[in-house]
Amino acid sequence: MTGPAPHDAASHDAASHDPASAAPVSPASPAAPEPVLSARGLVKRYGHVTAIDHADFDLMPGEVLAVIGDNGAGKTSLIKALTGAFVPDAGEVRLHGRPIRFAGPQDARAHGIETVYQDLAVAASMDIASNMFLGREIRRAGVLGSVFRLLDKKAMRRQAADHMAALKVGVGSITQPVETLSGGQRQAVAVARAAAWARSVVVMDEPTAALGVKESGQVLDLIRRVRDKGIPVILISHNMPHVFEIADRVHVHRLGRREAVIKPSDYSMAEVVAIMTGALGVRPDGGTVVADSDAASAAGVLGS
Ligand SMILES: Nc1ncnc2c1ncn2[C@@H]1O[C@H](COP(=O)(O)OP(=O)(O)O)[C@@H](O)[C@H]1O
Ligand SMILES: [Mg+2]
Repeated sequence: MTGPAPHDAASHDAASHDPASAAPVSPASPAAPEPVLSARGLVKRYGHVTAIDHADFDLMPGEVLAVIGDNGAGKTSLIKALTGAFVPDAGEVRLHGRPIRFAGPQDARAHGIETVYQDLAVAASMDIASNMFLGREIRRAGVLGSVFRLLDKKAMRRQAADHMAALKVGVGSITQPVETLSGGQRQAVAVARAAAWARSVVVMDEPTAALGVKESGQVLDLIRRVRDKGIPVILISHNMPHVFEIADRVHVHRLGRREAVIKPSDYSMAEVVAIMTGALGVRPDGGTVVADSDAASAAGVLGS
């Protein structure tokens, strides 16, 4: 499997061609870090609704990237295309620079991408440890595990407890059913599970939408800890204060595509909302231009 490609033998003097000394082709610029997960020209149609309309996407190493946009802008569809929930009609997804086509969410998971969906995917009647290992149970050693399929509950409980402690998630006993937890604690279990298994990316679709102030704060802390472990996070949210509190960069999605990517420190919340609604446009130099003066004055961001 290491011989030269057929066209080499046909087009060159085979005797003078040494495959071992071949120079690498177009080395990447050392200055630009490679996105962990990226996409170009994604398209997804549902009948005559275009949910994703030639969208681009880039998640950089070590960042919390917020994805914001109006209801119906296509945020969830974008995430589904990136995490294998469906195959886009057009466009390309890359993981660590290599084109990839996930066969399904399990396949994305096998590639290190964990997603916490908008509608919580925890099993309410099962305990915390069982939820952490849902679909990835540890079996007992020997025939007890391989033939009788017995679970190693002790090992799972110990590992789950260690992991929750490492993430500073306070949930009391690891053996209590998830249905006895508050909404915030359940969300924390879902996020902790994602953090436990993710090797490349954690994706969260509106993780604080149903939570109170204190619980939201706990989930935001947890997101920070996941980032501090070195795993980049995609956070879909339309809670602008949360986005400004936690995001390193903000991907603004509008009408099915990426409208802009900004740093929260460079813009006010009102400006970002105005970009989201199309009242303001972003120039290549990062400045804003009024795209819709009625909408911009309504948003209080006209003039400058
Ligand atoms: N399963 C589906 N079938 C038909 N239309 C859909 C489906 N999912 C999303 N859409 C449509 O695609 C567009 C984008 O939706 P979505 O990705 O959920 O946006 P967001 O998450 O930003 O609110 C909307 O017009 C929505 O109605
Ligand atoms: Mg959505």
